Amino acid sequence: MERKKVLGAVAIAVLITAPLSYYLVAKFIATGSPCEPANYDIQLPGTFRDASQVPIGVAVDADLLKDDPEYAGVVSKYFNSLTPENAMKMGPLRPSRDEYYWTDADFIVDFAEQANASVHGHCLVWHQQLPSWVSSFSGTRDDWVALLKEHVQAVVGHYKGRVASWDVVNEAIEPGGYRDTIWYEHIGPEYLEYAFTWAHEADPAATLYYNDYDLLGDLDKLDEVLGVLNGCVARGAPIDGVGLQAHVTSEWPSNGTISDAISKIGQYGFKVRVSELDVAVNPSGGSGCFTQALAEAQEARYGELGELFLKIPRLTGISVWGVDDGHTWLVGFKGHPDWPLLFDGNYAPKPAARGFYAALA
Ligand code: XIL
Repeated sequence: MERKKVLGAVAIAVLITAPLSYYLVAKFIATGSPCEPANYDIQLPGTFRDASQVPIGVAVDADLLKDDPEYAGVVSKYFNSLTPENAMKMGPLRPSRDEYYWTDADFIVDFAEQANASVHGHCLVWHQQLPSWVSSFSGTRDDWVALLKEHVQAVVGHYKGRVASWDVVNEAIEPGGYRDTIWYEHIGPEYLEYAFTWAHEADPAATLYYNDYDLLGDLDKLDEVLGVLNGCVARGAPIDGVGLQAHVTSEWPSNGTISDAISKIGQYGFKVRVSELDVAVNPSGGSGCFTQALAEAQEARYGELGELFLKIPRLTGISVWGVDDGHTWLVGFKGHPDWPLLFDGNYAPKPAARGFYAALA
C-alpha cells in the first residue's frame, strides 16, 4: 500500500515537471546553454558627436555604407570621424603594383565629407593584409625602399587635404624592440622613420600617428613604444601622435593599469587617439547570448573608459572599431560570439551607448 502511494506521487511529480524539463532540454539543444538575452530600450538624449568635446569616430565598411541605409544613418548621425576599417590597407588598395583600387576608400571619404565628419586614414605600413605581389616581391634594399615610398606617397598624395590624419605605421614595435616584419627584414628599423618622413612630404598638413594594440594594458610594451618613437622624433621623424587601439574587455585592463598607462603617455609630448575601441564581454566564449548581466557590465565599462580617456593629455579623439555587433571583426578574430560595440545587430543603441554617452556629455 505504502509503495503504491510513493509510486503515485512520483508519477504525479513527473507529469507536472515534464513540460518544463522538455522546454529546458529543447532550449539547451537549440542554444547550447539556456541563455536569456538582455532586454533594453535605450533612448539617448543626443548623439556622441554632439555631446563630445573631442571627435568621436567609427571604423566603417564601404559596402555597408553603400547598401545599408540604416547602417549609413547611424554612422552620419552619431559620429564625426570615420576610419576605413579595411579599404585603405595595402592589400585592398593595391591589387598589383601598377593598379590602385580607390573606389571604396574614395566612397568613404566622399561619405564623410557629406556627413561633415573628418577622415582618419588607416593604415599605410603594416605587416598584415598585404597584397600577394608584395609578400612575394624580391629585390634589393633600395627596391624595397622605393616600393614603400611610392606606396606611402601615392596614397597620402591621393587624399591630400581630405584625410586629416593617418596611421602611418601599425603594430611595428613589441616589448624588446622592433617587430620582425617584412619591412623590417628588407629595409631595417629605419623604415618606420622613413614612412613618417615620406607621408609628411606628401601632405605636410596631415597629423601622423603610430598605432598599436595593448598599450593600455601592457606597460612594458607601452614603454618600448614610447621610447622608440621618442628616439625617432629626436632624429627628426615627423611623428605627431600615438594611436591606442583599445581592444579591451569588460575586465581587462584594470582601471588602475589604464590610469598608469595614461600617466606614462602624458610624460611625452605626443597627441593621443583612442583608435579602435571595443569592449569584449565574452572573451572566453562561455556565454551563448548577450545577457542582462553582460549588458550592465559593458554599460559600466564604457562609462568608466569614457571618463578615463577624457583625462588623457592631448587627446585628439576616440574611435570605436565598428558600428554594430552584427559587423564586428572580433567574432571572426576570436572564433566565437561577442557583442563589443555600442549598437546591436538591429542598429539599436545598447546600454553601452548610454554609458558611453553619459561619460562624454
Ligand atoms: C581588422 C578588420 O576589422 C577586419 O575586418 C579585417 O579582417 C582584419 O583587420 N588592429 C588593426 C585593424 O589595426 O586594422 C584590424 O582590423 C583590427 C586589429
